Amino acid sequence: MVEGRDGIDEARTALAAGRLVILPTETVYGLAADAADPAAVAAIFEAKGRPRFNPLIAHVADQAMAERTAVFDDDARKLARAFWPGPLTLVLPAADPSPVCDLARAGLETVAVRMPAHPIARQVIAAFGAPVVAPSANRSGRPSPTRFADAVEETGAFAAAALDGGACEVGLESTVVALLDRPRLLRPGAVTRAQIEAVIGPLAEAEADAKRSPGRMARHYAPQAPLRLDAAAPEPDEAYLAFGPDAPQGPRVFNLSPAGDLAEAAANLFAHLRAADRTAPRAIAVAPIPKSGLGEAIDDRLRRAAGFVG
Ligand code: TXA
Ligand code: MG
Repeated sequence: MVEGRDGIDEARTALAAGRLVILPTETVYGLAADAADPAAVAAIFEAKGRPRFNPLIAHVADQAMAERTAVFDDDARKLARAFWPGPLTLVLPAADPSPVCDLARAGLETVAVRMPAHPIARQVIAAFGAPVVAPSANRSGRPSPTRFADAVEETGAFAAAALDGGACEVGLESTVVALLDRPRLLRPGAVTRAQIEAVIGPLAEAEADAKRSPGRMARHYAPQAPLRLDAAAPEPDEAYLAFGPDAPQGPRVFNLSPAGDLAEAAANLFAHLRAADRTAPRAIAVAPIPKSGLGEAIDDRLRRAAGFVG
């Protein structure tokens, strides 16, 4: 394992050798591999225990690399200009030939592309010189790691290098927008629905059709303990994810944001879920959290963690 800035060259070397690398991004930690190398990509699916029908996101360092990866139309360019580098993923027709192998795309003719903002991720991809696929560095179905130690605990055993970029600033996975027939929101995230609609107009709802968004399964992001949502207070033997200044105190209470700030709550969500889970509670009760703006993405992850969304 290597850490810190000195790790960039080792990360590049590991990727070129078909090995996996734990990489910080501004959203969550990723488990990265050369997008063009089917054996390396197979190792990601293996490490995560991830079903192979669930495609990966290709991460790029700049717009030129993005345009070698996917076919951009006007809306795609507008969104890229407005939000890249940053926590937005675009699902677009794949370039032909594709620098992202079939396995990484789960055989689809589309590809998910994102230009991360985290300087370490960008430097590694730029040094590698080609797209890098990186799902969240958790085992499939578990909360995404937003701290270095959590990433190493989840999938460190499978990585040839692991780069410590500190706590992830955003804390939730990127917003995923498909620009295929009409613009659709496949996964809410830090770039909000309203921010996207301000650039390209109204978004259609994601279809129930699982093929369009294969990752959107029930019981995703789940801790060991069951979740109880919209709970005003914890019951005996429950841990509590609180929100806001008036929350109860206690050894099993984890306040997502004492100030009642949604960005802070998002950044803390997965780390607090893990911390609450480590107290081996009967259940994790979660305070009511506003559902507008960034709250849409927080609510989405909580409902999946609770197993409510199919
Ligand atoms: O913030 C993020 O996006 C993080 C960091 C590491 O960049 N990555 C991440 O990757 O969350 P992952 O694999 O956990 O989630 C990728 C999501 C999945 O829901 C997957 O189904 C969807 O993107 N996806 C990927 N390619 C797709 C495609 N061609 N069509 C539709 N959905 C796609
Ligand atoms: Mg994931």
